[in-house]
Amino acid sequence: MKILIGSDHAGFELKQKIVSHLKGREGLEVEDFGTDTSEVSCDYTDIALQVGRSVAHGDADRGILVCGTGLGMEIAANKVSGVYAAGCWNKEVAALSRQHNNSNVLTLGARVLDEKTAMEVVDTWLATEFEGGRHIRRTQKICAYERSANRAFNNGQGGQVVIFDHPLVQHKLSIIRDKNTPVKTFRETVAEIASLMVYEITRDLPLKMIDVETPVTRTKAYAIAGKKLAVVPILRAGLGMMEGVLNLIPNAKIGHIGLYRDPQTLAPVEYYCKLPGDIEERDIFLLDPMLATGGSSAAAISLIKKRGGRKISLVCMIGAPEGVSVVHEAHPDVNIFVAALDSHLNEHGYIVPGLGDAGDRIFGTR
Ligand code: RB5
Repeated sequence: MKILIGSDHAGFELKQKIVSHLKGREGLEVEDFGTDTSEVSCDYTDIALQVGRSVAHGDADRGILVCGTGLGMEIAANKVSGVYAAGCWNKEVAALSRQHNNSNVLTLGARVLDEKTAMEVVDTWLATEFEGGRHIRRTQKICAYERSANRAFNNGQGGQVVIFDHPLVQHKLSIIRDKNTPVKTFRETVAEIASLMVYEITRDLPLKMIDVETPVTRTKAYAIAGKKLAVVPILRAGLGMMEGVLNLIPNAKIGHIGLYRDPQTLAPVEYYCKLPGDIEERDIFLLDPMLATGGSSAAAISLIKKRGGRKISLVCMIGAPEGVSVVHEAHPDVNIFVAALDSHLNEHGYIVPGLGDAGDRIFGTR
């Protein structure tokens, strides 16, 4: 297990004692995020957010944060999506924070705990597992709130789910959800939603400084730093999103992946895969309007990885929680972008409320 540990000046001495206490323990790797002295005052916030972000991104399994009371660290760390920080003052509370709350960050108050109690709390917290059962329902409600409140949440292992809930997108989604929307409107609206989603999926594109001469003066301005992109629709429904995406990133290279479901095993089987030759150098946007069971998306991601692709984002219009779990279980590093995260799958594997079969509705085949 990898643990990140950090403190402010008030927690420094206790943090050092915890580091020595845990040093050399088998199966435990401890990384110290500072601070490095009790003499210079610093802000607990900075350390809490750094450790919190790293735990949420999956750089480590858990974090321990120490300040004067444990409270500042707890409050700050809990602002990071994916962090469940618990301030514990005895070993019973420490055990319960794991068993019931699945806490992934422990916060301690150096000014309110004696050393012996602090070590007991640390040992108990590290040794105790989440009980699951009825507690899953409760922790999932926290995750669900986090999702709706934050729009983006980390899976704790490097990947994110980003819900692109812009009013224009939501409005257009309602149009394609409507079963009376004709094929032409459906197809055009899918392309429009895909175009709007490009703003979100390209948010991290690197920029470079360039010189520009305006009518008034010379100045420095930004330009896209020439990142290589690839757009890969999963056949056939993904094609409906492709035009909209390419409208905004016309220089992206295009790949195609075709999968069908084996009627016996129900497993996705590849029938076509053609990707740009330099796929390993590209940021890849995999397009699939509906993330339902997640089976074909996860298989398509495996195909891309097998051919060297590394930075993959899955871009869907509507996702089901089941599909998100399947994709992130198989590929925790992948970012998933959806315009809406719906309730669940029905017994036929359709997303509820969803919009029916996106392929049929785009191509008018039913
Ligand atoms: C620092 O004096 C103190 O405010 C801090 O360590 C912590 O107790 C805040 O919650």
